[in-house]
Amino acid sequence: MKEDFIVTPWEVKGDVDYNKLIREFGTEEVTDKLLERLKNHTGDLHHFLRRKIYFSHRDLGWILTKLDQGEKFHLYTGRGPSGKVHLGHIVPWLMTKWFQDKFDTHLWFQMTDDEKFLIKEKPLEEVNETSYENALDVIAVGFKPKKTHIFSDIDYIKTQYKLALKVAKKTTFSTAKAIFGFTDSSNIGIIFFPAVQTVPCFLPSELYEKNIPILIPASIDQDNYWRMARDVAEKLGYYKPAQIHGRFLPGLQGMQDEGKMSSSVESTCIFTTDTPEEVEKKIMKYAFSGGQATVEEHRKLGGNPDIDVPYQWLTFFEEDDRKLKKIYDDYKSGALLTGEIKMMLVEKLNHFLKGHQERREKAKDVIEDFMLRD
Ligand code: TYM
Repeated sequence: MKEDFIVTPWEVKGDVDYNKLIREFGTEEVTDKLLERLKNHTGDLHHFLRRKIYFSHRDLGWILTKLDQGEKFHLYTGRGPSGKVHLGHIVPWLMTKWFQDKFDTHLWFQMTDDEKFLIKEKPLEEVNETSYENALDVIAVGFKPKKTHIFSDIDYIKTQYKLALKVAKKTTFSTAKAIFGFTDSSNIGIIFFPAVQTVPCFLPSELYEKNIPILIPASIDQDNYWRMARDVAEKLGYYKPAQIHGRFLPGLQGMQDEGKMSSSVESTCIFTTDTPEEVEKKIMKYAFSGGQATVEEHRKLGGNPDIDVPYQWLTFFEEDDRKLKKIYDDYKSGALLTGEIKMMLVEKLNHFLKGHQERREKAKDVIEDFMLRD
């Protein structure tokens, strides 16, 4: 039985029941039939899609219909720069990159430094600087320079403000309260902020002076904003933005305790800037194991990959389906030990991070090619 859980843009706790979220949020399941349709356009499917790590959507079918009719979509995703980027944040960006590569389309990437200033105890200057520091990670993912537009809300508000006002005027406090759970003690900045996060759903249409379909790849915690955006879209004369929603990369100590990982608790996550030694230490020390207490018992009874965090992480980072299946089977039978599956993950992550960190260094020279400013 799944215990109670919470999923909001500002809090994720407990063992998330993703099917329940589909019902509660009123989204649709990513079906094999829909994936087949997508594959007709792309030739193959990313492992996040094959494994239904991206499990829910709104209007993805409509995006494909528009494509068939010759209307190309733009992508929109983002980051709240509250500190260092961890591997969970990278997951939606990898999904987004796949869509950009396959469809050669524009990406709008919003840095909500305003939001982080409003909800965290952090100075304005610090969150604003973190936007540019985190942008290095975004660039390191490998997005196309000429088609990727990254912006800090604080520094790009002049362009966004008119649209934010239009959205805000069409959204009552009662709707915002129902969607975001605001109370009398919420500061008035954060009550206005959701209007700002909806802006990039409509900004390309505004800038190009024609309606442009938008697809947002992000994890399911951001869904509240899209409900609000879809509510006002037609009233403002725009298309409703479409979404594809991902699951969370669990915290190292497992979903039961912490839900998704938290950058403020070092022992729950791997940062993109961690050294190979730090990665190994964290995985070995903290990653929750579904293995047995002793080697003898493990060999006899086998492990439980379904609750084993190293295995769960490999479903995100091991692209080869056959290798992953073998790891699953060997872990379950007891042929593969806890220490061994952990080392497989350490090697996989360190390989990924080596490339990422090199690209992140190079990004320092080209960051201005990506940033929009007023
Ligand atoms: P933020 O910075 O909390 O998260 C950035 C992105 O990472 C996703 N995410 C995760 N995905 C998988 N596993 C995890 N453990 C995990 N933790 C976070 C989030 O869903 C998000 O996609 N307000 C937003 C910034 C934003 C945005 C957007 C995000 C502005 N516009 C459009 C997505 C789409 C924020 O604070 O994200």
